[in-house]
Amino acid sequence: MRLQGRTAIVTGAASGIGRASAKLFAEEGARLALVDRDAAGLQETLSLVGEATTHVGDVGNTDFAETVVSDVIARHGRLDILMTAAGFSCGGTVLTTSVDDWDAVFRANVGGTWLWARAAVPHMQRQNKGSIITLASQLAIAGGKGNSAYIAAKGAIVSLTRTMAVDFATDGIRVNAIAPGAIDTPMLRRSFARHANSDAVRETSRNRHAMKRFGHAEEIAQTALHLASDASSFTTGTVMVVDGGWLAA
Ligand SMILES: NC(=O)c1ccc[n+]([C@@H]2O[C@H](COP(=O)([O-])OP(=O)(O)OC[C@H]3O[C@@H](n4cnc5c(N)ncnc54)[C@H](O)[C@@H]3O)[C@@H](O)[C@H]2O)c1
Repeated sequence: MRLQGRTAIVTGAASGIGRASAKLFAEEGARLALVDRDAAGLQETLSLVGEATTHVGDVGNTDFAETVVSDVIARHGRLDILMTAAGFSCGGTVLTTSVDDWDAVFRANVGGTWLWARAAVPHMQRQNKGSIITLASQLAIAGGKGNSAYIAAKGAIVSLTRTMAVDFATDGIRVNAIAPGAIDTPMLRRSFARHANSDAVRETSRNRHAMKRFGHAEEIAQTALHLASDASSFTTGTVMVVDGGWLAA
């Protein structure tokens, strides 16, 4: 069991990549705090992982992050892993994205990364050990069409990940991003559904991957497990691309 005795917070745990990662972390022995704004989805995840605490709220809320981290410390005395998988996209170019949508996408994706890291890092410093795993996207590197707020937010997460990795490297804290390709989750299905010609957009996206398929949430969870565990003890400040060859093709 690669995470035996470790304590982990997973945001976005009610669905997709966060859920699959929480399940795998639990199978590997971690004690979990599951975070999401979707209460029903969190209960479904809880039924998959067995034992965990659940925390319903908006990851862009500063007090929420502080409260959940405090609760974990009060229960377990330590926090070893923070995985910030909560996020969403709204679609649109810079001309068609409203200011409110832009702010909401940044608040959830970027705020949902830095506010949680800000709450977690002091405890990881005290332990002189910790792993923070953020969620970027292959689009943060490649760019993409009609998704400007989301892609800019993911670019910010790449830069934030690298700068946190440098700032806290000598405190025993590793900070790494995962940049998935298109992963078959509710988010991906929603993003295709925004298009009038959604079937064609889906097939173009599928074929854009060298492997000619979408990824599975469980494949991203395996990368998260690697980054969470001591198997990646000399890995920090990286953007681990898991994209079925999207960027290479
Ligand atoms: N699916 C993909 O193709 C893909 C590709 C690259 C990156 N990602 C990233 O991976 C992460 C997980 O995505 P997914 O595909 O599993 O999506 P998903 O929609 O299946 O799950 C995301 C979860 O985040 C939660 N969430 C969103 N905003 C929130 C907020 N403000 N507060 C609390 N919870 C919130 C949702 O309720 C949902 O349960 C996201 O950061 C996403 O941007 C996904």
